[in-house]
Amino acid sequence: MRVIITKDYDEMSRKAAEFIVKELKNKPDSILCLATGTTPVSTYKELVRLYKDKKVDFSKVSTFNLDEYYGLADDHPQSYHYFMNEHLFRHINLKKSNSMIPDGKVKDIEKYCFHYEWEIKQKGGIDLQLLGLGRDGHVGFNEPGSSLGSRTRLKTLTEETVEDNSRFFKKKDEVPRYVLTMGIGTIMEAKKILLLVSGENKAGVLQKVVEGPITSMVPASALQMHRNVILIADEAAASRLSRKDYYVYVEKMQERHEKGEI
Ligand code: GLP
Repeated sequence: MRVIITKDYDEMSRKAAEFIVKELKNKPDSILCLATGTTPVSTYKELVRLYKDKKVDFSKVSTFNLDEYYGLADDHPQSYHYFMNEHLFRHINLKKSNSMIPDGKVKDIEKYCFHYEWEIKQKGGIDLQLLGLGRDGHVGFNEPGSSLGSRTRLKTLTEETVEDNSRFFKKKDEVPRYVLTMGIGTIMEAKKILLLVSGENKAGVLQKVVEGPITSMVPASALQMHRNVILIADEAAASRLSRKDYYVYVEKMQERHEKGEI
């Protein structure tokens, strides 16, 4: 895992957006898989800014999304459909027909989840997977105990996640208890993964994800088995990494290498 530590949230977001733009320059018809939550909000804002400055083009890009609350309609203000539209899609030139988010209102769940996986395969697989990190170590909505080989399916949220996500709803009771999420197995098939983590409240879990044992109790720890993960974490989130100095040193050497100094 490549570990990039930034001074703060803003720098993390800028670097993440730059990274995505670079990927799209190399492959304009990239298949992205996007995440929601507070963490990627400024990354999306920066992508919108770069789009308006004509630095990036989404006309050939396709997107999937990691997850959706089960039971919420697309136009519900807390649905991830609504989130993506508000923060990114309606501001850029991504074709509506090129984006797919799990449908929270679907009846035949099993058939739909199978179809979602099939759509990803049909497109040729995910080139770049964007991820945030839940406080209990989840990615997407793969809560602790999720099989590390899991595929897109219905999951039950933990009390901790319901509590964390209740900040977006009027009352905790309104937070859906069920979600549709891509599995850890699905995520692990992405060609590249960009994991974004910010804030001191994620420092403990991030240490386990990067340096702890691989376990379904910390589902994101499965990323240690992936060949191409780039973690961008701000100082606060990285504060408990025991090899922090080493990661910083490696990045400095990488920069020098890119400048042709070594
Ligand atoms: C949600 C999402 C995840 C996200 C996580 C962290 O539960 N399903 O994709 O990464 O929460 O959210 P935040 O970035 O708000 O801390």
